[in-house]
Amino acid sequence: MSEFVKGLEGIVAAQTEMSYIDGEKGVLEYVGIPIGELSAKSTFEETVFLLWNKRLPTRSELDEFTSELRQRYELPAGMEQRVTSLPTNAEPMHVLRTMVSALGMHDAQPNEIELDRARRKCLNVLGHAPTIVAYFDRYRRGLPLIHPDRSLSFAENFLYMLNGEKPTATMARAFDICMILHADHGLNNSTFAARVIISTLSDVYSALTGAVGSLRGPLHGGANEGVMKMLNEIPSVADVESHVMGKLERKDKIMGFGHRVYKAKDPRASDLQGLAEQLAKDTGNEDLYAKSHAIEQIMEREVAAKGIYPNVDFYSATTYHCIGLKLDLFTPMFALSRIGGWSGHIIEQLDGNRLFRPKAEYIGAHNAPYTPIDQR
Ligand code: SDX
Repeated sequence: MSEFVKGLEGIVAAQTEMSYIDGEKGVLEYVGIPIGELSAKSTFEETVFLLWNKRLPTRSELDEFTSELRQRYELPAGMEQRVTSLPTNAEPMHVLRTMVSALGMHDAQPNEIELDRARRKCLNVLGHAPTIVAYFDRYRRGLPLIHPDRSLSFAENFLYMLNGEKPTATMARAFDICMILHADHGLNNSTFAARVIISTLSDVYSALTGAVGSLRGPLHGGANEGVMKMLNEIPSVADVESHVMGKLERKDKIMGFGHRVYKAKDPRASDLQGLAEQLAKDTGNEDLYAKSHAIEQIMEREVAAKGIYPNVDFYSATTYHCIGLKLDLFTPMFALSRIGGWSGHIIEQLDGNRLFRPKAEYIGAHNAPYTPIDQR
């Protein structure tokens, strides 16, 4: 029997052709293309096609994929009523988890897992998820729902449904870049969860529901909300040093820093840093960026030697805030994008499946007696 490795740290549990990560050098590629190339030149729709098909689309293929996705912006009949019957104080990640699961009950054949069928179900969830989040946010604010507009891109349409007006080109592009950067990242916890679930030949909706549940954890996708809470707690740049040093002395984890794989700066953090700096200037949030940058400088001085650097969540917080998103929508944003990556892994897992069933090392007693209850 192999030795027990806590948290499966460093264990190779799957093969993939989607993301390549070099943790030491801080390199991330999607199907071999450096993430910086994609964030500069691609779109979220094209990136999802790339991840699912392992190649960039021709223009006509992209047009067809985009059209298929936009046909799924609107929710299936009955789903809108489900969203607007939820408690208005529900946490958006709980709403998303519950509604992804509910989508399976609005699919006539929810359990089909032949590759082309599974892909279509993934596309259903990719198209419907932004509408679920936007509808719930409008509903909890007591505002009329804004139905999707198929003439808009994924990024434009989400911001339109959320705010009731079409976003500026700058904001739409900023959100599109965030979606590209969060789409896939190897065998992270939520992706592993999706692969484990689909490996029993369960259904796509169950696998994606489990992945959403994993992502909300503060050690994973929930960290971006933790970063924003920390930034809001620090009154000014002048207070950053004492705040961060206090946390480090208490052995508190600084949200948005550290990574199981990266021991250099997460390349996505670098991209998001540039976006955050520009948007902070454009929206009068310079103090937010200044606090973030000051935190990074202190962490560089104090813990870079331990391989602790900013990860994707650190500057995404300022970026999402400047785009105008509420704090408790930050992790749902991560999920909207990662449905693309989770789906690609579901398809990869189904294409040559092997049930995940690791072992547990038994470290308890043996040959123990059964003591009758009146003698215990
Ligand atoms: C994501 O896996 C992925 O790819 C995930 C992701 C993706 O795209 O899917 O990249 C997205 O989840 C990014 C990570 C978001 N989480 C956070 O920002 C939460 C804060 N980070 C930490 O909790 C931590 O860094 C983890 C969970 C991300 C990684 O933790 P590990 O690999 O289990 O490392 P560890 O907790 O064992 O820490 C090793 C040492 C410890 O110090 P010592 O006890 O050895 O003295 O580093 C320290 C830790 O205390 N440390 C930190 C720290 N992270 C690690 N110290 C202060 N602040 C931190 N953030």
